Amino acid sequence: MSLPLPIGPRTGYDTPPGLPGIVVSGICRLPRIHILNGPNLNLLGTREPAIYGAATLADIEASLSRRATDAEVELIFRQSNHEGDLITWIQEAGCAGEPVILNAGAYTHTSIALADAIKGSGARVIEVHLSNTHAREDFRRHSFISPVAEGVILGFGPQSYHLALEALTSGVANKKA
Ligand code: DQA
Repeated sequence: MSLPLPIGPRTGYDTPPGLPGIVVSGICRLPRIHILNGPNLNLLGTREPAIYGAATLADIEASLSRRATDAEVELIFRQSNHEGDLITWIQEAGCAGEPVILNAGAYTHTSIALADAIKGSGARVIEVHLSNTHAREDFRRHSFISPVAEGVILGFGPQSYHLALEALTSGVANKKA
């Protein structure tokens, strides 16, 4: 699927700072933010609840959607257990100039290809994790995403996603504003 290119800020609306609206066929569309989740995050709710909590991915997405309405942004939710899907979605977002909140799951610690997709497409990425990966096994301490991310938020459970959304919609994360 090819996405339209951003062609400038909306006028007559209060767009969140640094998030351009997009005009498609003469109609202003809300700025879009992609919430991408990687492998095993579809199991949230039943997966190691002592570490990841009781909320399902659908619960997290529903609470983010409520916040997005207030912030006047459109959220695109996607989850995949396949690295290539995440790469394609990052490229689409990057080429469309739309920011990404990314929990790459275990690919965080292994995937040079995801890091290359971020760099290669120029995607703005906030890396998030539910758990504090630095307080867990050693292999979780290294992230291939962090060096190419605009910021990293981890250890706050579902609130990690909300803090990332807040960073993007408040302009805190927008270095180019
Ligand atoms: C995670 C942390 C990763 O180390 C792990 O592989 C996950 C979830 C988190 O959100 O805490 O799948 O990204």
